[in-house]
Amino acid sequence: MNPEIKQKMNDYIKLVEENLDKFIPVEYPEKIWESMRYSVLAGGKRLRPILVLETCRVLSGTFEQAIPAACAIEMLHSQSLIHDDLPCMDNDDYRRGKLTNHKVFGEAIAVLAGDALLSFAPQVILQNTPKTVSETRLLRVLEEFLINAGASKLIGGQVVDIESEGKEISKETLKYIHENKTGALFKLAMRMGAILAGADEDKIKAVTEFAEKFGLAFQIMDDILDVTSTLEELGKTPGKDEEEGKATYVRFYGLEESKKQLHSLCEQACGILEKNNIKSDILIAIVNSIDERVK
Ligand code: IPE
Ligand code: IPE
Ligand code: MG
Ligand code: MG
Ligand code: MG
Repeated sequence: MNPEIKQKMNDYIKLVEENLDKFIPVEYPEKIWESMRYSVLAGGKRLRPILVLETCRVLSGTFEQAIPAACAIEMLHSQSLIHDDLPCMDNDDYRRGKLTNHKVFGEAIAVLAGDALLSFAPQVILQNTPKTVSETRLLRVLEEFLINAGASKLIGGQVVDIESEGKEISKETLKYIHENKTGALFKLAMRMGAILAGADEDKIKAVTEFAEKFGLAFQIMDDILDVTSTLEELGKTPGKDEEEGKATYVRFYGLEESKKQLHSLCEQACGILEKNNIKSDILIAIVNSIDERVK
């Protein structure tokens, strides 16, 4: 990534982290807020909030309009990670380079911290989005948020992921898992950014198509890195997918073919931006960074 873009990404991360810190208080009962803060403020790439902010900016919106939704999607994402790591799910000890939430706070509090983040996140949008966003747009953002967090999207993907462990599955099922457990949040990020900016339906459609390609590519990268990377690099234990018999692109297609599909999806994603005249060096750099990471 060139230094200028790297700097812009770091500025976005700083903006997101300052606001996350501001939005999540510590109050009675402190244990739950501390547990929520532990996972949300543990770092991570902050890709989903960056996508909300950058999509809003490039479609002529402001950061002020997008910050609450950017923070909310990071809370939703963190919730999905806390629950994903539980012993009854993927059973992981490390996340973002630290012990997982249940390892520090215990399983009961980890479950509750996830639940609490899930209901807190939409409140953050509702209570903090500025009046320059019309109520119609705000309602649309909330509806999309709630749908994508739920049983037909993120949760649906997680259910089929868990049910597919150790089984032979079709490529359609594999695609369903990836598009929902991971793709849904990337799509949500960009659609919220576009809606908050007041973009027209053509632009909303364009960023949706981009996010569909990018989201699938991102989970393919995650599957590849589970095989090729290290705990230091990932901040989470590698080799877990194979151990748990997970339905991954690597298991289904092999490493080389997975890399090829990832590369092709990245090219398609960039093509969608170009075709729709969406000029964002940040979006292109993010796409290229996932393609580069598996090389
Ligand atoms: C991890 O997401 C979960 C997947 C969808 C693969 P990220 O790789 O974006 O995790 P953080 O936010 O950087 O920790
Ligand atoms: C990511 O699936 C999807 C969600 C957490 C919703 P993974 O189980 O592959 O994510 P990691 O590898 O634990 O980050
Ligand atoms: Mg999982
Ligand atoms: Mg997992
Ligand atoms: Mg994974």
